[in-house]
Amino acid sequence: MTKAVIEIRRTAGALGAEILGVDLSGDLDNATFDAIHQAFVDHQVIFFRGQALTPEAHKRFGRRFGSLNVHPYVKGMDEHPEIMEIIKEPTETTNFGGGWHSDMSFLEKPSIGSILYALEVPDFGGDTLFASQAAAYEALSPGLQATLEGLNAIHSAGREYSSKGSSAQKRQSMQVSEAEGLAGEFIHPVVKVHPESGRKALYVNPAFTMRIDGWTKRESKPLLSFLFEHSRQEAFTTRFRWSKGSVAFWDNRSVWHYALNDYHGQRRHMRRVTVDAN
Ligand code: SIN
Repeated sequence: MTKAVIEIRRTAGALGAEILGVDLSGDLDNATFDAIHQAFVDHQVIFFRGQALTPEAHKRFGRRFGSLNVHPYVKGMDEHPEIMEIIKEPTETTNFGGGWHSDMSFLEKPSIGSILYALEVPDFGGDTLFASQAAAYEALSPGLQATLEGLNAIHSAGREYSSKGSSAQKRQSMQVSEAEGLAGEFIHPVVKVHPESGRKALYVNPAFTMRIDGWTKRESKPLLSFLFEHSRQEAFTTRFRWSKGSVAFWDNRSVWHYALNDYHGQRRHMRRVTVDAN
C-alpha cells in the first residue's frame, strides 16, 4: 500500500494542525484521504491553505466523511443547498457564529464536522477560534468528571435561532429563518466518547445547551456557567488566521468554535459544508 505524503504542522498545544502538500480540489486517493482523516481525528481541527474549491469539489471532499447536512434555518446556495454561504458585508455589524458553539448540537443526530472555505477575507481580523472540549474535560477533577459522565443535557436551536438570538438576526446576504415554535429539544450526554479516538470530551455549549436533563433551568445554570467558563480557557484553544483559499475542518463532537467580529467595514465571504453523523 502506498503511504500518502502529507506534512502535518501542529498549531497549538491542545488542538489544531495545518496540513501541507494536499490539493483538495480533485479526487483524493485512499492513502491521502486516510492520512487526512487520521489527522482530523488526532488534531480535532485541521487547516489547509491555497485551495481552489468549486462547490462540487467542496461537497465531494465533505462526502468522503459522510452525508452532508442541509441546514434547517440557514438557506443554502440555490444550486447547492448543502452549502451555506457565510457572508458579512462591509455595511453590516452582525456576524454569523460570533459566540462559542458546536455546530448542530441542536439536532437529534448532531454533525461530525464542518468544512469552511474562505473566498474573500478582510485585510485584518475575522479569525476563527477553536477550543478543545477533550482538553477541557481532561483538565477537570476526577470527581467532577465522574459526576458529569452520569448526566445528559437538553439542546435546542430555540434560543439562538429565535428573534432575539444572534444567529437569526436579519442580514443582507444570508437568509436565516427563525426557529421559534419549530425547534425541538434533543438530549445528548454531557460527556461524549469520540467514536474514533476513544477520547472523552465535554459536549455542552453556550449557544444550544438549554439545561441538564431532569434539572430546572435555574438548577442547571451554575453548573453550565462553570463549564462554559472553564471550557474556553486559552490553554484549550487555537486561532486560525484566514487567507483566500484557506480551509478549516473541525470536529463538532469535540471542538467549539468562535468567529471573531473585529473587521467592520470589510467583506468576509466563506462557504461551509457540514457533515452529518453517520
Ligand atoms: C461558523 O460556522 O460558526 C462560522 C465560523 C466562521 O465564519 O469563522
